[in-house]
Amino acid sequence: MKRIYYLILTLYRILKYLLSDTKRYANILFFVLMYQPKKILEIGVYTGRRAKEMIDAAKVFNNKIEYFGFDLFEMMNKKILKEEMSKIPNSKKNIYSKLRKSAKIRLFKGYTDNTLPKLKNTKVDFIFIDGGHAVKTINSDWIKCQKFIKKNTIVVFDDYYLNDSRIIKKFGCNIVVNKISKKLFEKRLCKLTDSFYSNYNNKVLQYKMYYVRKK
Ligand SMILES: C[S@@+](CC[C@H](N)C(=O)[O-])C[C@H]1O[C@@H](n2cnc3c(N)ncnc32)[C@H](O)[C@@H]1O
Repeated sequence: MKRIYYLILTLYRILKYLLSDTKRYANILFFVLMYQPKKILEIGVYTGRRAKEMIDAAKVFNNKIEYFGFDLFEMMNKKILKEEMSKIPNSKKNIYSKLRKSAKIRLFKGYTDNTLPKLKNTKVDFIFIDGGHAVKTINSDWIKCQKFIKKNTIVVFDDYYLNDSRIIKKFGCNIVVNKISKKLFEKRLCKLTDSFYSNYNNKVLQYKMYYVRKK
C-alpha cells in the first residue's frame, strides 16, 4: 500500500515539475523510478527537498534506503556563495530532522574536498552532483566520487550550460562531463531545459542536467 502511495506521489511531483519552470528536476525522479537505487548520494543538500523526493521515489521499490548528503551547511558564507555561484543551505540539524524518518541518513558538513574522502568502503547506486558550481569544485567532486561508483551506478550532474561559451570556463559541468570516457561510461545530455538569469554575464542562461552511467 505504501509503495503505491510513493509511486503516486512521485508521478504527481514529476508532472508538477514538467509544468513548472524547474522542469529538469523531473529527470532526477524519472531516473530514480527507472534505476531503483537503494543507496543515494547527493552533493549539495541545500533545503533537503530533492533528497526527500529522491528517497520517496526510491521507496516505491525498497523499504530501506540509505542517503548520503554533503554540504557546507552552516559553513556557507558570502565569499563562498560568490565563488561557487551557489545558494544558502539550511542547517545540518534542520536537514537531519527533515529526513531522518524517511531513510538511513548520513550528513557530511564542510567542503566536499575534505568530506568526500571521509566516506569509506561504500558503493552507491545513484549520485547527484549539485554542490559548488565552480568547474574546479565539480571536477574534484567527480574525481572523488569515483570510489563510490560500481557497474551501473548513475551519476547526474546539474548545470550543463547551453548558450554561453564564456561561463563554462568558470562554472558548470560542461568541461568535466566532456572529458568523461565514452568507453567506461554511457553518457548523454538530459532532455529537459530550464533557464535562469545569470548575474555573472547578465543574461538568461539555458541549462540542463547531464546523465552518466558506469558500464
Ligand atoms: C544548488 S544548491 C543544491 C541544490 C539541491 N541539490 C537541490 O536539488 O535542491 C548547492 C548546494 O551546494 C552547497 N555547496 C556549495 N559549494 C560547496 C562545496 N565546495 N562543498 C560542499 N557543499 C557546497 C551549498 O551550500 C548549497 O546548499
